[in-house]
Amino acid sequence: MFRSAALLRETKRVFGTTSTWTAGLVVNGFSTASSSHQRLAGKVAVITGGASGIGKATATEFIKNGAKVIIADIQDDLGHSVAAELGPDAAYTRCDVADEAQVAAAVGLAVKRHGHLDVFHNNAGIAGRLPGRRSPPPSS
Ligand SMILES: NC(=O)c1ccc[n+]([C@@H]2O[C@H](COP(=O)([O-])OP(=O)(O)OC[C@H]3O[C@@H](n4cnc5c(N)ncnc54)[C@H](O)[C@@H]3O)[C@@H](O)[C@H]2O)c1
Repeated sequence: MFRSAALLRETKRVFGTTSTWTAGLVVNGFSTASSSHQRLAGKVAVITGGASGIGKATATEFIKNGAKVIIADIQDDLGHSVAAELGPDAAYTRCDVADEAQVAAAVGLAVKRHGHLDVFHNNAGIAGRLPGRRSPPPSS
């Protein structure tokens, strides 16, 4: 598994850096370790793969900590229902992380809706070959 090149480019464009692990979290100087404080008050986050699993759990914690969250996923029905479940601080947008334009649109939506973007959680991973790597030769 590897991160989509499109997602990396978009993360780098917005933050000037990229996270260094597959399900990477980019939080500018903030820890989400405690949910008893509004540690992310005023912060805006896009969470890819936010409709289920780790992404949904992250969205839930971010909102508990005062953040506004855009859930970016490819499961539209689930994404809309999760956003409704999480309340007015959550919104859903369709975003396939393999499609650079959709990633850019998710970032654009966050900025349009909230005026800025603080966090891009590269949670959704997609499988494939690393750029520049050849397949191993077939075994005889
Ligand atoms: N759960 C684990 O133990 C574990 C361990 C190591 C890595 N990971 C990785 O962490 C990430 C999240 O894991 P999870 O267990 O929460 O998975 P999950 O299957 O519960 O959730 C993944 C979410 O990503 C969405 N998604 C899939 N392809 C997408 C795409 N192209 N664009 C946007 N969204 C897409 C799915 O619709 C789903 O909502 C995955 O990348 C997974 O490979 C998970």
